[in-house]
Formats: sequence, structure tokens, C-alpha cells
Amino acid sequence: MIDKLKELIAEAEAFKAQTKDEVETFRIKYLGKKGLLNEYFAEFKNVANEQKREFGQTINQLKKTAEDKVKALKEELESNEEVKGIYGDLSRPGEPIQIGARHPISIVKNQIIDIFSRIGFNVSEGPEIEDDWHNFTALNLPEYHPARDMQDTFFIQTNPDILLRTHTSSVQVRYMENNKPPIRTISPGRVYRNEAISARSHCFFHQVEGLYIDKDVSFADLKQTLQYFTTEMFGKSEIRLRPSYFPFTEPSAEVDVYWGLKTETDYRITKGTGWLEIMGCGMVDPNVLENCGIDSKEYSGFAFGMGIDRIAMLLHQIGDIRLLSENDVRFLEQFKSAL
Ligand code: DAH
Repeated sequence: MIDKLKELIAEAEAFKAQTKDEVETFRIKYLGKKGLLNEYFAEFKNVANEQKREFGQTINQLKKTAEDKVKALKEELESNEEVKGIYGDLSRPGEPIQIGARHPISIVKNQIIDIFSRIGFNVSEGPEIEDDWHNFTALNLPEYHPARDMQDTFFIQTNPDILLRTHTSSVQVRYMENNKPPIRTISPGRVYRNEAISARSHCFFHQVEGLYIDKDVSFADLKQTLQYFTTEMFGKSEIRLRPSYFPFTEPSAEVDVYWGLKTETDYRITKGTGWLEIMGCGMVDPNVLENCGIDSKEYSGFAFGMGIDRIAMLLHQIGDIRLLSENDVRFLEQFKSAL
């Protein structure tokens, strides 16, 4: 009889089930009221005295094996059911999709494009690797002109005629060479200067160039356009024009907009004045028009060039220009809610 019990233990140990019903049948067979265990327990009294001890131990072992088996199988089937539940629920939310964010430079660039497109400016582009003519000479900066030193240029060593453009004014030249007035265009892009990198300046940054050429364009038109732009861009119309010098414009001015001094970033970017220098501008020098094949007796126009990076830093309170090119996701992610 003990041998029979040992067989049953082995059988119980090997038992496998796919469904809860199978587990229940197994349970009834071993542990039920009329099950095998009770049957063998009832036999206990008939067992010879010297075998009682071994019999008792074996039957208890069978009981424990059967109970453990039922418990283990139930748990296994239940956890399977949970997994099935997860995959089976078609109304559950989908995998979260990682949505990117626009770079603050792109956000501000697009705002500028948007503002000027509302008054009829189109968008034009030119190459970042430029030649001397488009970056300097055509803009009234002939070789050895002292004003070339205003912009520390990266030259291509093997060919001094080729350089990384120092400003987007080169695109004005290209646009005038290829289009007849009336011209109303803005040219956003990246520019390069051989400058020490710090929290305030970088060896590459971004500009938007503007050009308006038509008959009878005056300085008043330029001022009005600037006033419109600053009001739209900053919600502030307090601007000042300081007389300045650029070889490609005459007269020339620099434009400041009053931003205020509320935060530490405001102090840093406006050098503690509250005024942000946003652009250089002026009436296109007749020499430049002629260099680009436009009759300066018939046409006049204005041009301006502004830096995007500093505007972005002020609008989004970015304290260090280097953040704009480090591609740190923790920084970039913060612009998800912006335009
Ligand atoms: N190119 C100048 C710079 O990078 C900015 C500038 C000044 C552009 C006057 C213009 C302009 O078109 O008229 O500093």
C-alpha cells in the first residue's frame, strides 16, 4: 500500500493543467471528501502496527504534495489570466508617443518669418559657404577695407576667396542679382565668426536679413516697418535708432527695443540697460544696388539684419547662448508647449 502511495505522490508531482477545471478535478480526486486521501486515511486502522509510522508519513507527504500542487497551479493560471487581460483589452490606451519639440531658434525664426510675411515679405536662402564677392566685395567692402575687421572671418585655408559667411547680408546680394525690384524678402540662416565662445557669444549664430527695394522707398518706410515688427514680436513699441555705420547702408542705424529689467537674464542679455540691441539697418548704399545690377537712380531701398539667438534668449529666458547648440534633451524638452 505504501508503494501505491509513493506512486500517487509521483503522479501528483508530475500533474500539469491547462484550465481551472482540470485543477479542480485533480483537487477532488486527491483532496475531496471521497478522494484518495480520505480513502487511505480510512485504511490507517488496518495497517500493521510496525508499518503505521511509515504509512502515516507517506500519506501526509501525499497530502502536502497534492495541496501544494493545487495552490501552485491555481496561482499560475491566475497570473496567466492577468497577462491575457492586459493584452486582450482593446480599449486600453496605446503606447505613449514621444513628441519632439521645436528648437527655440526655430520657434523665434518662424515667428519672425510669420510677422514679415504678413506685410508681403517672402523667404529666401543662400549658402553658408560663401565667396568673397557675396559676403564682402559686393556689399561695398572691397579688399583691405578696414570694416572687414568688424567681422572675424573663418576662411577656407586653401582658398582665401571661400569663407564661412559672417552675416546673412550675402543673401541680399544673391537675391538682387537674381530678382528684379520690387523686392521684399527676408533671409534667415546660420552665420559664423571666429570669436571666443562664452555665455554671450558663439562662433556660430543665427540671423535674419531683410531687404526692401522699390521706387521711392524712404527711411520713414524703414522706421515704420521696424515699429511694426517690434510691436508684433515683443508686444513693445518703444524703440530707439542710434546712428551707426555699415559699409552697405547709408545712412545706417542700430535699433534697440526696450525690454525691461525683470529677471537676472534680462540684466545679463541687455548688459544691465533694459535695452536690447536687436539689429543693424539702413538705406541700401547705391554702390551695392549697382554691384547687384539694380539702377540706383530708379530704385532705393532699406535693409536690416538681426540676430535670432539673443532674441530667443530674452523671450525664453535662456541665460547662456551655449545651451542653444548643446542639444541637451533636458533643455530642448522645455519648449514642447511653445509654437
Ligand atoms: N550684416 C550686419 C551684421 O552682421 C547687420 C546688418 C546691418 C544687416 C545693417 C543689414 C544692414 O542689412 O542694413 O552685423
